[in-house]
Amino acid sequence: MLQGYKIRPFRPEDLEEVERINRVFLPENYPSYFFIENYRRFPSSFLVAESESGEVVGYVMCRVESYYVRVATLLLGHVLSIAVSRRHRRKGIGKALMVEAERGLVSYGADAVYLEVRVSNEPAIKLYEGLGYRKLGVIPSYYADGEDAYLMYKMLDEFIEEALVEEVLGKRVVRI
Ligand code: COA
Repeated sequence: MLQGYKIRPFRPEDLEEVERINRVFLPENYPSYFFIENYRRFPSSFLVAESESGEVVGYVMCRVESYYVRVATLLLGHVLSIAVSRRHRRKGIGKALMVEAERGLVSYGADAVYLEVRVSNEPAIKLYEGLGYRKLGVIPSYYADGEDAYLMYKMLDEFIEEALVEEVLGKRVVRI
């Protein structure tokens, strides 16, 4: 149970604060329309964490992508960006945002969820592993500064063959 914060859907009036947190804590930044586009299309998996004083202290933004593999269409949730303001970390906010975002992705029919993370980003990797994400492989030089990414994923639908998800996502990685 998250103490002192609530997780709620993103609202357009949060945009400035979410963009600020994104700029301060992540080198990967996006134009405003990218945030708004993902909010419009997938509002249930774009969430913010709000403190008791009403301050937005973190966010997670996702989208759902369709992939055709053999005879099936797979819907994959993609965690595009997540950050928590530094002084509010290690209180369970990142985990709560991810859990709620996964719920939103399931509501859109996502079969699995995946994300990219810097190979040096120990806190984030620990967070994802704790939630059941597995490293599928490395995407060499994924980031603008040349750092590699791990592609990590987690099944959301127990009736979907994991091999199908690995077939789709495996094309993007060097297996480890
Ligand atoms: N070192 C080791 N493990 C860590 C960690 C750290 N600094 N931070 C989180 N974890 C792991 C722990 O297992 C933790 O559980 P515990 O506190 O019970 O040990 C678990 O993740 C959940 O942590 P939580 O408190 O929910 O995470 P958070 O609110 O601090 O947010 C991030 C985690 C990654 C979102 C946050 O560090 C952040 O915003 N980083 C900068 C932006 C970023 O890197 N985003 C991810 C890009 S892929």
